[in-house]
Amino acid sequence: MTDLQVRKMRFAFADYDVPFLWNEENPAFSSMANAVSFLAIGFEKMIVNMIREAMPLITDPAVAEEADAFVRQEGQHSTAHRQHANGLIRRYPGLQETLNEVIAEFDRLTVHTSVEYRLAYTADLEATFTPVFKLMLDNDSTLFRPGDDRVASLFIWHFVEEVEHRSSALIIFDSVVGSDVYRMRMAPSIFRHVLKVIRVACAGFNEHVPLEERKVDALSMFASYRRRQKLRTWLPFLHAEDHGPMPRAFDHLPLREQLVALAGVIRSQLPKHNPDHEKLPALADVWFQRYEAGYDVSHWYTADPVAP
Ligand SMILES: [Fe+2]
Ligand SMILES: [Fe+2]
Repeated sequence: MTDLQVRKMRFAFADYDVPFLWNEENPAFSSMANAVSFLAIGFEKMIVNMIREAMPLITDPAVAEEADAFVRQEGQHSTAHRQHANGLIRRYPGLQETLNEVIAEFDRLTVHTSVEYRLAYTADLEATFTPVFKLMLDNDSTLFRPGDDRVASLFIWHFVEEVEHRSSALIIFDSVVGSDVYRMRMAPSIFRHVLKVIRVACAGFNEHVPLEERKVDALSMFASYRRRQKLRTWLPFLHAEDHGPMPRAFDHLPLREQLVALAGVIRSQLPKHNPDHEKLPALADVWFQRYEAGYDVSHWYTADPVAP
């Protein structure tokens, strides 16, 4: 029996303007999170098609039940991220093109790669989420709290549920493919694709959102890009276009915590990785408790406390 709960969540994105710079104190993180929203829509669309294809190959009813709950949680995430993205597109219509390109990148995988590859893709990428999202949720006071409460609440809910279903994609992969060697062999091409999609989103942000509103070069999260742009300042004949300052989203976080997250990402790709053994963000527990108590988790920082 799966323990996953499917929670329907809405965040009032249609009620008033959705700012690109939703956390003014951290433009790099604002932009990175917006890219995650775009990526989530394409990725989760691929997952829905993939599970449909994989279902007939799953013989264990418990795994089939897990797969069903997993895909329904992802479907809810996708719906909410679409509403977030639509809010951004209303304000910056050019971003529709960017979203289409991001979705097309995942559609290409659906059409041109095997279901085994997409199961490995999902298992590999989802395995990185718990350590990475723990870093973010452990530092919610600077990354999320100062921001637009709708956007902050969307990400907190999504990341908490990613922690909740952290084992699902591996369970499904193991039941259908069951080869750590295959998963590891595919990892380089999988993460190349992930980075490529994030680049597509960030390049679109640079193109369609004016610098005065984005405050940061959206591509600055890529070290190779930062190096090239810096080179430009003393080799002007390179003529690289200036897209703005290049701060990094996590620069202010304790280095030790960043290294723990990095080690977690590497561990997540090794054979016999079991996400059940991962250290979890304390905020996840608080979130589940508040949700059970009837707290309005769609306004994480601004809702009235639940009466005891
Ligand atoms: Fe998700
Ligand atoms: Fe997920």
